[in-house]
Order: sequence, then structure tokens, then C-alpha cells
Amino acid sequence: MNNFEFYAPTCFVFGKDTENKAGEYVRRFGGTKVLLHYGGGSVIRSGLLDRVRKSLEAEGLSFIELGGVKPNPRSGLVYEGIDLCRKEKVDFILAVGGGSVIDSSKAIAAGVVYDGDFWDFYRGKRIEKALSVGTILTIAAAGSEGSPDSVITKEEGMFKRGASGDAIRPKFSILNPALTQTLPPFQTAAGITDIMAHLYERYLTNTEEVEVTDRLIEALLLTMIHEGPRVIADPDNYEARANIMWAGTMAHNNSCGVGRSQDWLSHTIEHELSALYDCAHGAGLAVTMPAVFTFELSHNVMRFAQAAVRIWGCQMDFAHPEVTAKAGIEAFRNFLISIGMPKNFEELGAKAEDIPKLVEILCRGDGRDGTISGFVTLNEADCTKIYQMMADYR
Ligand code: NZQ
Ligand code: ZN
Repeated sequence: MNNFEFYAPTCFVFGKDTENKAGEYVRRFGGTKVLLHYGGGSVIRSGLLDRVRKSLEAEGLSFIELGGVKPNPRSGLVYEGIDLCRKEKVDFILAVGGGSVIDSSKAIAAGVVYDGDFWDFYRGKRIEKALSVGTILTIAAAGSEGSPDSVITKEEGMFKRGASGDAIRPKFSILNPALTQTLPPFQTAAGITDIMAHLYERYLTNTEEVEVTDRLIEALLLTMIHEGPRVIADPDNYEARANIMWAGTMAHNNSCGVGRSQDWLSHTIEHELSALYDCAHGAGLAVTMPAVFTFELSHNVMRFAQAAVRIWGCQMDFAHPEVTAKAGIEAFRNFLISIGMPKNFEELGAKAEDIPKLVEILCRGDGRDGTISGFVTLNEADCTKIYQMMADYR
């Protein structure tokens, strides 16, 4: 196990009706003037935004609002939010929505207290300072409610890039599983896929002797395999949604990723798809992961075989471990298809003729040197092959 520091101070407030405590938690964490940030309207339709407003009013907190965050959030609204917060002297940002709203809130929070262009953080500069952020989560997926990360798409060039820093970990996150009951089945499934991706991207490690985190990841993946189909069949199942929601947070606050190298190639490769085609991040991952894993397999057959046996219950073929390893990848692919995820470029809305453009942005865009690294290092030819595998799969 590698040395590590783990700093994850978010206060999680979990359960039914907890959104009514939003005002109390903003006050507890020092907010006096709040920006309420939200997305395209689901929180208005569900009545959630009204309940949150009432909760802030009950605490005598003053607030302004900025809605309109799109899935795969854009830099334009971040700039607008930064200007608004400076003008209105906002000291706390309350994100009401999914990963996109939370990521936009984190970007604004970092940008307000930074003299330069906030995009510097999305080109590798670490975020050291930010306004406080709190969240009320409405979809179990990205894990942004507990992560030190934010992913934003820059409209010029359509670069989708991430920024990091413990300063943007939310001060508190309110997790009421009942709020996710209004999700369309496709979004629920895309969220399940993203959560499983966060676990797999940590499982694929080059660090040896990491039993504790291996076992945590396996437990969370087994939970998703159990609860995913239950919630797809019965969207109002509160208990299934509760287990998925907490698994989603645990999957990405890095409690099961410490002390080990991680992969993240599937995420890096997928981000260009959701940037170019505006598809759901989880749906993009469903198409990306089986191709990336198949490409990575020969790098460490035993790790994929371990996943196959421990997570998917495959029989170990000791004479041909690669057979077991491949069976695990296929079991994962079939699971994703069974919950309604796309399996190839066509079903995702991506086009094979765009592959050169995708590879160019992926490997060369915004200062990259022609390679991307994770479990393995990939060059442009490798990335071309991987996208082609996704296009060709039938
Ligand atoms: O905009 P509204 O109207 O709210 O609709 C949203 C949106 O259309 C809808 N939705 C959310 N909660 C709902 C609901 N509809 C009905 N009922 C509810 N309760 O769902 C759609 C998707 O929302 P979004 O926030 O985009 O989903 P998600 O949480 O999957 O976030 C995706 C973004 O997070 C990034 C992704 O790249 C993507 O941009 N990620 C962020 C990470 C992080 N910060 O740590 C890590 C992840 O790997 C990921 O990359
Ligand atoms: Zn993700």
C-alpha cells in the first residue's frame, strides 16, 4: 500500500426530509449570503427548490438564484456565476441537483476568489481556495457530493476537463434517497453505471497488497449488482435507492481509492464523447469501459480475473486466466445492457467518422502531449483502436 493523506471533511446528512435542514446547515458552516444554483428545471417541478427556499428563509438567510446548469456543465454559466457572486457578495454556494450542478457550483466557488481565469484550474492548477459549497443531491451518480473534483466543458473547443482540490469538497451534502425517485429510468441507470465506473477505475491498480480497498470496492460493486436491477424494476423502492445513494458517495469520496494507483482512462476517453455528443456521462461510460478493459487486459490478466471471480462469480480457469478475465468483462457489459445502457457508438449517438477528431482532442487538446495515462499508457493509435472497438461492437 502506498503512503497517503485522506482529508474528507464533508458532513453527510442522510435520509428522508433532510432537505428541510438546508438553512440550518448553511448557517452552521458560516454562510450568510447564498447563491442557490440549480439545473434545467427538475428541482422546480418536484417542488424541492421551494422547500429549500423556505428552509433558507426560516434561518433568515439572504439568497440569490442562478438556474440553467446543463448536464455536462459549461464554462459560460460558470463565468456568469463568478460575476454574480462577486457583485452580490455571496459567501456560500448551495448546489441543488446532480453532479453537473455541483460541479458548476465548485467551479464558481473556486473562480470567485481567484484573480486569474478559472479555467487555469481545469488545465492542471490545483484549487487551494474557494468559497464554501453545500449540496442537496438529486441523483446518485457522479459522487461530486463528496469528491474534491469538478468537471466542466469549455465551449470554445468543447474540451471537457477536470479540476481538483480539497478546498472544493462540499462542507455538507444532504442526501435524501426519496429525491431520486423522480428520475427517468435512463438517468437512474446512467448513474448506476457511473458509480460502478468509479469503483472499477480504482480497482484497476498497479499497486500490490491493497486488500482492504480491494475488498471495499468489491462490496460496493456487489451492492450495485444487487440493488441496480431492483431499482430499475421498482423506481419507488426507497431502500434500494438509499443503498445506491450511499454506495455512490462511498465510491467516489476516495475512501476506497487511498494508497493505490488508479486508472481513470475510461473516464478520460468518455469525457470527449459527452463533450462532443452531449450524451449522459454514465451512458458514455457503458460503451467505453468494456472496450478500454479489453484493451488493458493483457497488462494484468490476473487483476481482471480477480474481478471476474470475486465480483461476477465467474469460475477461475487456472490454465487460461485470460478466459476468466474476459468473462468478467462480458458479464459487466451484459449487466449494463440489462439495465438499459447503450452498447456501442450507434446506440450512444456517436459516429465512427468522428474518431480522428475525438482522438485529436483527447490526446492533443488543451496542451496534452499525445498520450494519456492510467492503468496503462495509451498513445493516439491505441485510442483510435479503442474508439473503433466501441463503434464496431454489435
Ligand atoms: O437539469 P435538471 O432539470 O435538474 O435535470 C437533470 C439532468 O437532465 C436530471 N435530474 C437530476 N436529478 C433529477 C433529475 N431529473 C428528475 N429527477 C431528479 N431527481 O438528470 C440529468 C442529469 O443530471 P446531471 O447532474 O448531469 O447528472 P450526473 O450527476 O450524472 O452528473 C454528470 C456530470 O458529472 C461529471 C460528469 O462528467 C458530468 O458532467 N462528473 C463529475 C465528477 C466529480 N465532480 O467528482 C466525477 C464523475 O466521474 C463525472 O465525471
Ligand atoms: Zn464518472
